Amino acid sequence: MKLLVLNGPNLNLLGLREPDIYGRETYQSLCERIERHAQDAGVLVDIRQSNHEGVLVDWIQEAHGRYDGIVFNPAAYTHTSIALLDALKAVNLPCVEVHLSDVTKREDFRQVSFIRLASFATISGKGVQGYLEAIDLFVKRGKDAGHC
Ligand code: DQA
Repeated sequence: MKLLVLNGPNLNLLGLREPDIYGRETYQSLCERIERHAQDAGVLVDIRQSNHEGVLVDWIQEAHGRYDGIVFNPAAYTHTSIALLDALKAVNLPCVEVHLSDVTKREDFRQVSFIRLASFATISGKGVQGYLEAIDLFVKRGKDAGHC
């Protein structure tokens, strides 16, 4: 199984960015933990981050036929981007939406998620562990479907 892990704007600043909300772990450490967990689970992962909506759209489009699914933290674009929702729908790849913080307990404007409409699961408020659980969900889904 091959998964694309996509991260949206400002997630490159993890560790520096609002540590009370997002923790002190750096983006690099997040990537290393995801890679280690994926390897243990027998899953191939490519991890990418962009601050630009169009770049994320391009990467989702390019994922068609190359990946079995997307683990996606669209960051602030979660709450605004119909373009990202449409891209996910266009390629029709299974997606798990991940948020480090518990968005359900935050501001009203974070209660909307366009990405959720194209995701089979959402994991929110579990920090880096949420990404690892998203990978596990894909593995379980694959097993349930008899693919591995
Ligand atoms: C986030 C939550 C979003 O509301 C916010 O804009 C982010 C990060 C999270 O991981 O908790 O940038 O997606």
